[in-house]
Amino acid sequence: MVGILADKDRIFTNLYGFHDWGLEGAKSRGCWNATREILQQGRDWIIDNVKASGLRGRGGAGFSTGLKWSFMPKEVGARPHYLVVNADESEPGTCKDREILRHDPHLLIEGCLIASFAMQAHAAYIYLRGEYVREREVMEEAVRQAYEAKLIGKDNVHGWDFDLYIHHGAGAYICGEETALLESLEGKKGQPRLKPPFPAGAGLYGCPTTVNNVESIAVTGTILRRGAAWFAGIGRANNTGTKLMCISGHVNKPCNVEEAMSIPLKQLLEEHCGGVRGGWGNLKAVIPGGSSVPMIPAEQCETALMDFDSLRELRSGLGTAAVIVMDKSTDLVRAIARLAYFYKHESCGQCTPCREGTGWMWRVMERMVRGDAEMKEIDLLLDVASQVEGHTICALGDAAAWPIQGLFRHFRPEVEARITSYRAGKPHVQGHAIAAE
Ligand SMILES: Cc1cc2nc3c(=O)[nH]c(=O)nc-3n(C[C@H](O)[C@H](O)[C@H](O)COP(=O)(O)O)c2cc1C
Ligand code: SF4
Repeated sequence: MVGILADKDRIFTNLYGFHDWGLEGAKSRGCWNATREILQQGRDWIIDNVKASGLRGRGGAGFSTGLKWSFMPKEVGARPHYLVVNADESEPGTCKDREILRHDPHLLIEGCLIASFAMQAHAAYIYLRGEYVREREVMEEAVRQAYEAKLIGKDNVHGWDFDLYIHHGAGAYICGEETALLESLEGKKGQPRLKPPFPAGAGLYGCPTTVNNVESIAVTGTILRRGAAWFAGIGRANNTGTKLMCISGHVNKPCNVEEAMSIPLKQLLEEHCGGVRGGWGNLKAVIPGGSSVPMIPAEQCETALMDFDSLRELRSGLGTAAVIVMDKSTDLVRAIARLAYFYKHESCGQCTPCREGTGWMWRVMERMVRGDAEMKEIDLLLDVASQVEGHTICALGDAAAWPIQGLFRHFRPEVEARITSYRAGKPHVQGHAIAAE
């Protein structure tokens, strides 16, 4: 069984901002050490080692990072190559990338240089969430420091001309979807593109582009310094390395922590978060990977591992590893209705199933909170959710359907009881409905 991560295996040694985030502090923690030697090993070596480390994208989908880099064209033609770092971080419950941005920005900048070199990009963009104002200020200063020290820029000490730009978004969840992000970066409305073509073929300004999450890029320098085998030795097969996890909700000490991938969920909550409020027996359900993944009930939390495969087997997902803990005081129907409102609000409106379906599902969920529904509407709701899922341009449609499906998969009798009670003249009164727009 995978245990607690040893301090010597931490990548983000300034996660809590106790030390200097600036260049000197970063260097004292090992960042920018032997970066030139890493680049001298060549592109294929870098990509092969990132593949061998088992690193899977930390933005939610968990696709192999090294494999993704290998999809970029081998030769640079008339079109330049780009790396784009997704720092939009708007998934409810998720607050891990911002700790990298404000406390360990040089790990990200170094990772950008390495990844860009491996993909033959001379320029990279970091797209920041609109609300991350302080994070932008830190990133801009860190980038300035890196230019000044000739770590990046023209004729830098690493021998690969490289420019890094910080772009501040206006604050929209959908701009975290990689192609919406590219549209927004180009100055257009942030609406997802149809795929194919994929960004590696035609991305930013129609040029070969790779979009990666902040954490995916920020870990690469340390992986290549310490060796692919070191990273691959943490966690379990196909689920390797360290992972930033954000735990919120009904625990005694909500926190962000870097842990070993595959740590048991129960151990994570008990050892880092002071346990569930009121004790483990008071747990009702957990959303383990940010609001877009289906919840799992307390019984499954006993054995769930915090990794891609274990949570997929439970028909949920690791997502962003943002763990939302809900104890027995939680009105789960209200909680999911609130998330349904979020997806309705954030839908960009391009696809009919998402534009119409998210609003329709939210309105039905609001009635279900009170119990003001027909019993047969439960199956109708699930039918509509399954028609939204997988039938849209981007995964926001899936993200809107999954929390609702998760609720009914595990807690259908609760909603049925609420409907029965309403029909007997006793409407459910807990919580507040969101006024219809
Ligand atoms: C609606 C939506 C929002 C997303 N938001 C983010 C985000 O804020 N940050 C992120 O890294 N990925 C986000 N993603 C996933 C990205 O599209 C993309 O898969 C990711 O940036 C790839 O990076 P990775 O391979 O390093 O994980 C989002 C996807 C969708 C569908
Ligand atoms: S699924 Fe929703 S958010 Fe995504 S492109 Fe379609 S309408 Fe826009």
